[in-house]
Amino acid sequence: MERRQFLQAMGLAALPVPAATVLGNNLESENSGPVVVSTWSPNIKANAAAWKVLMAHGSALDAVHAGVMVPEADPKDQSVGYGGLPDRDGKVTLDSCIMDHKGNIGAVMALEGIMHASSVARLVMEKTPHVQIVGAGALQLALEHGFKVENLLTESSKKAWEEWKKTSKYSPMTTVENLLKYIENQHDTIGMLARDEAGNLSGACSTSGMGYKMRGRVGDSPIIGAGLFVDNEVGAASATGVGEEVVRIVGSHTIVEMMRQGKNPEDACKEAVARLVKLKGETAAKALQVGFIALNAQGQYGCFSLNPNFTMAVHSHQGVKVIQAKSWFPKK
Ligand code: GLY
Repeated sequence: MERRQFLQAMGLAALPVPAATVLGNNLESENSGPVVVSTWSPNIKANAAAWKVLMAHGSALDAVHAGVMVPEADPKDQSVGYGGLPDRDGKVTLDSCIMDHKGNIGAVMALEGIMHASSVARLVMEKTPHVQIVGAGALQLALEHGFKVENLLTESSKKAWEEWKKTSKYSPMTTVENLLKYIENQHDTIGMLARDEAGNLSGACSTSGMGYKMRGRVGDSPIIGAGLFVDNEVGAASATGVGEEVVRIVGSHTIVEMMRQGKNPEDACKEAVARLVKLKGETAAKALQVGFIALNAQGQYGCFSLNPNFTMAVHSHQGVKVIQAKSWFPKK
């Protein structure tokens, strides 16, 4: 289904953006009802779309899908979907995955020409016997299901790429450059987790990946276990930041396993960050950004990042919040 039709069917077109309370610490909240959390404060708009689904007695799966479609369609968001920064050859290539409370999974990688990579990931999950489809195969699947090819490279992302090419010597950005970009833009990949009124959990993750990446590069976001993991009995987690580093520690699965061992969501995210610091060493880790969010089966949530300025957006019956994540390294 086209995004507009999907949103209309869900009654989500032209949603008002709720005012958010910005919290100075990484609050854990008791929350027995429905809840949506996502990476980065601008995604309060995405959370609002997901919340509307939950309030209409929809499933967590439908909620996260509707939620991530919001930044996917936003041309101003240069890290997800339409308007995403291209690879070093000027092609916008998208990665996404989705996971429900029964362990059903679907992912697409290096998908071109289709704005809603999350919808194609859901097709992989629901309409194929497979769990991951890449590149031309993912596009073929989308076309077979009525999706239309669109030019995803906006004028402003094209301009940014042309500017980058002047000095790039055709190499992808280094991680240090990326850190600066992440901090400057205050957001990156959307990872979204939701708990519905039946108490079931689902998650979705969507990105255009690292700006000016090498052709065919795939990060953590479409990798189940790395960019996203859901275990309905325990909790769910998702990641943002430099994907290579998240894959290295299978970040989201690690966090869910930490919660299984009794850690609260924030401490579980912190433990994953600690692993990364141990593996990379302090100097290398300081030049990266990775942020994690987690939601447990009881509806408590938390987040933690390597460097400052990572935020998590929350929507529940207790209101709309932006949580400033605690970080391993302090503000410079
Ligand atoms: N976290 C997004 C990426 O590295 O592709």
